[in-house]
Amino acid sequence: MRLMASIFPPAPPLGTPMLPTRPSPEARQLIALRRSTSKRGLITPGPDRTALDEILTVATRVPDHRRLAPWRFLVFEGDARADFNAKAVEIQKAENPDATEAMLADTAGYFSRAPVVVAVISSPDPTHKTPVWEQELSCGALCQNLLLAANASGWAGCWLTEWIAFSPGINALLGLTEHERIAGFIYLGTAKEHPQERLRPDLSAKIQRWQREPD
Ligand SMILES: Cc1cc2nc3c(=O)[nH]c(=O)nc-3n(C[C@H](O)[C@H](O)[C@H](O)COP(=O)(O)O)c2cc1C
Repeated sequence: MRLMASIFPPAPPLGTPMLPTRPSPEARQLIALRRSTSKRGLITPGPDRTALDEILTVATRVPDHRRLAPWRFLVFEGDARADFNAKAVEIQKAENPDATEAMLADTAGYFSRAPVVVAVISSPDPTHKTPVWEQELSCGALCQNLLLAANASGWAGCWLTEWIAFSPGINALLGLTEHERIAGFIYLGTAKEHPQERLRPDLSAKIQRWQREPD
């Protein structure tokens, strides 16, 4: 894909020797201090088509066992968002007779919560010798890369699933095939206000050192 007004470096030609590390205070800050923006905190503007294509291109530079590229994107911008919202309400009514008026009203505004929504679709090949789990993990890595690439370009974002990521009706509406799943909807735009630091897990319980059993 040829892009105008690039803010990321282009991928070099195949076989170009690449740096194995890129020590960078800015990259360290980006990772160490990243925060999602709340689903109620995103407003216009969002990335335009050129900027988004570039972010999506960079986002796909993820680990990918046997280079299957087991993912794809479906982008919602402009009027397409309201169209999705209306159809999602009908699907919710059909799939969930217990859906309250409040739940339906929420759904009616889902994709209007940000100027750009990217559905990241996990698209594994179940017949391939690379396990589906690994293919799905690559898609998860892609979602995070997408958020980081967007943040590094000046766009705020968050990764949401909600019921629309687990609905047969929505999957059919979006044209997912049998083995495809929605990894998430990445909402992108401008932050209305700065998010605050959130509680972090106690890592002493999460990081252990494997010890050799004494003889
Ligand atoms: C797969 C996945 C699905 C998520 N779905 C939702 C969701 O539906 N609603 C929500 O409020 N947060 C959801 N989150 C959490 C937010 O994206 C976000 O990570 C969380 O608010 C913590 O903020 P932080 O990313 O800045 O740590 C999801 C996260 C992941 C990884």
